[in-house]
Amino acid sequence: MRRLPEMPGLHSAEAFNPAFLHAFFERAKAVETRPGEFEDALRGRVIATVFEEPSTRTRLSFESAALRLGAGVITVADPRTSSASKGESLRDTARTVGGYADLIVWRHPADGASRLASQFAEVPVVNGGDGRLGHPTQTLVDLYTLWREWGQIEGRTIALMGDLNHGRTARSLAWGLSLLGARMVLLPAPGLAWEEAVLDRILARVDYRRCSVRHPMFRSWTGKEKATLIEPRSLVQGELFGRDEVELNHLDALYLTRLQRERGAEEAMASRGYGGLQVEQLADPLLKQTLLLHPLPRREELPEAVDEAPGARYFVQTRMGPIVRQAVFLALLRPDRWSLPALHPLPAGDPDPGLGTCPNTNCISSPEGIPVPWRVEGRHERHFLCAFCDAPLPVEYAGCRSTRKLHPVHSPKVMRILPENLRPFRERHGAMEAGYEWSGG
Ligand code: NCD
Repeated sequence: MRRLPEMPGLHSAEAFNPAFLHAFFERAKAVETRPGEFEDALRGRVIATVFEEPSTRTRLSFESAALRLGAGVITVADPRTSSASKGESLRDTARTVGGYADLIVWRHPADGASRLASQFAEVPVVNGGDGRLGHPTQTLVDLYTLWREWGQIEGRTIALMGDLNHGRTARSLAWGLSLLGARMVLLPAPGLAWEEAVLDRILARVDYRRCSVRHPMFRSWTGKEKATLIEPRSLVQGELFGRDEVELNHLDALYLTRLQRERGAEEAMASRGYGGLQVEQLADPLLKQTLLLHPLPRREELPEAVDEAPGARYFVQTRMGPIVRQAVFLALLRPDRWSLPALHPLPAGDPDPGLGTCPNTNCISSPEGIPVPWRVEGRHERHFLCAFCDAPLPVEYAGCRSTRKLHPVHSPKVMRILPENLRPFRERHGAMEAGYEWSGG
């Protein structure tokens, strides 16, 4: 199976791993504390920023990062001024811009856009936010902000609050935190939780357990006192293993997010209300000495009265934006001097016309009119996912290309088939027509 990205780039926080992240934090610290060492690192290089959704912080901090390293910048800050408005495909735009720049930072409204662009651009692509799916450099900003404070993120308890369903920053951050061994409390605004598959995929990758916690304050944020907590099994003491509900007295950090109105958050909430954080709540022991983070822009969920709180760190996050993005550019464009441990990129997947279109209507495969490429995951049974947007695909049967035998997809026999020999099917008769022989579970 082809690997994604073909070109080194940065598309998903899932590609991070602890070795990468720890080395990254040290590099970002070097950029922050010794900026003079890097000021000519990208002299003569050109960075393109292609932003097909609004942005203030992300685009400007990438551009500031490029300029601070001595690179030049070309930009599409408004999609109305580019050929996307004339119906040009992302693939063609990627091919074109890849000829003008040494690296492209791309923001796009569709899930998986950056992964697709990387297959056509011939230069590294960095995801500046794609649909609801991911925002990996924001995650690096968030994690670096926490690491600067604590030195170690493992074992800390961080709550993710607000529009988890439509927001990409919390999704990406959940990957980063889980790879570093943090505990996470999920506090979605009413009706705006993740689909189950998001948590299932994280839990399938890291050795965590899922349980619940209760706090009266959660009601004003989520509509319920009970919330989901996920934590590394290594942190759980012997006798607590069997307990489904654990006590929570304190949060080390609270990560707030706004309602993504432009992605339909209000309709999904069905006017059930999301109060956000109130300044009086900061006196509760739960939030004493809690760091308050927010990717910004903020709305009513984070009143300005909170800005004076000792834990407020959201404007520290914004200041870390250019520093973190300089470290990203250095790793991608100057690996000769500033390489980092390799990412674990996701497979690019294989298209299979028999699978039809991606069930996620916001997947980049839909506006591009291309067959959905699939890849597999899962430690105990195989799950077929869209390789662009990670949506679970409706695969019921899996065949082995070498034996031509067909099995129900969750059969243990399917685990024994090498991924490159797998062929997914939605229906049994389609598999029979393709020459596969039914072998059962
Ligand atoms: C976020 C984004 O665009 O995903 N902003 C950012 O990049 N700092 C969050 C948001 O728009 O709510």
